[in-house]
Amino acid sequence: MSSSLRRIRLGVNIDHVATVRNARGGMHPDPVRAAIMAQNAGADGITAHLREDRRHISDNDIKNLMQNITLPLNLEMAATDEMLKIALFYKPHAICLVPEKREEKTTEGGLDLTHNFDYLQNYVSHIHHAGCRLSLFIDADKQQIDAAAALKSPVIEVHTGAYCHAMDNNDIHTASHELQKLHDACIYAHNLNLEIHAGHGINYETVTPIARLPHIAELNIGHFLMGEAIFGGLENTILKMRDLIHCSQF
Ligand code: PXP
Repeated sequence: MSSSLRRIRLGVNIDHVATVRNARGGMHPDPVRAAIMAQNAGADGITAHLREDRRHISDNDIKNLMQNITLPLNLEMAATDEMLKIALFYKPHAICLVPEKREEKTTEGGLDLTHNFDYLQNYVSHIHHAGCRLSLFIDADKQQIDAAAALKSPVIEVHTGAYCHAMDNNDIHTASHELQKLHDACIYAHNLNLEIHAGHGINYETVTPIARLPHIAELNIGHFLMGEAIFGGLENTILKMRDLIHCSQF
C-alpha cells in the first residue's frame, strides 16, 4: 500500500483519565493535566468526547481544556441540541460528530449519514457557521463517504475498530479484509477532496498499518494510550506512539 510523504498528526483522547477519576468522584486524576502532558510529549491535538451521560468527560472539563491547553481541541459529540449548544458556546477548533447509544461501552460504529442526512444538515450548517472544523465519524463505506461529501464536511474520521478488533483476536483473515476496506475508503475519500482521520482501538501493533493507509492526516487514540500509561508513563507512551506513526511514514 502506498503512502505519500506527509506528517500524520496524533490526537490524544483523554476521556479515560476522566473515567478513572469518575470511578471515585473528586478531582484526581485530572484530564487537563493529562492533556498538558500530552502536549509536552508532542501530541498535535487533544480529543475529548462529551457524552450525553457524562460518563467520562464533564462540562467542566471542556471549560478547563479550552482555558488551559494551547493545542487544538477536537470535541467529539452526538448530534443533539444539548451538545450543539455547548459546542457553539466554546467553539473548539474541531467538532467530530459521532453516533451515541446510551448502553454501548464505546462508540461501536460510524454515523449512518445516508439515513440521517436531513437531520444532520442542520447541525453541520451550525458547526460550519461557528467556524469549527467539522469531522464525521463513519465506517469505511463508499455510501457514507459520498454522504459526508454531500454534507460538505471537510473531514471524515474512519472507524478503525473492526480492523483493530480482528487484530486483537488474531483473526488475520478478517483483519486483512478490514484493512483493505479502510485502504479503499481512504482513496475514495481523498478523490472527493476529504481530509481523512482515523481512530478507534489503535494500539502499538495496529498503528503502523493504519498510519500507512493512503492520505491519512490524523490519528485519534485514547484507550490504549491511557491503559499503557499505567505501565510506561503517559509521556513515554505518547512519545512511543508518535515515533511509531512517524517511522511508519518512511
Ligand atoms: N475517534 C473517535 C471518533 C472515537 O469516538 C474514539 C473513541 O472515543 C476514538 C477515536 C478513540 O478510540 P480509542 O479510545 O479506542 O483509542
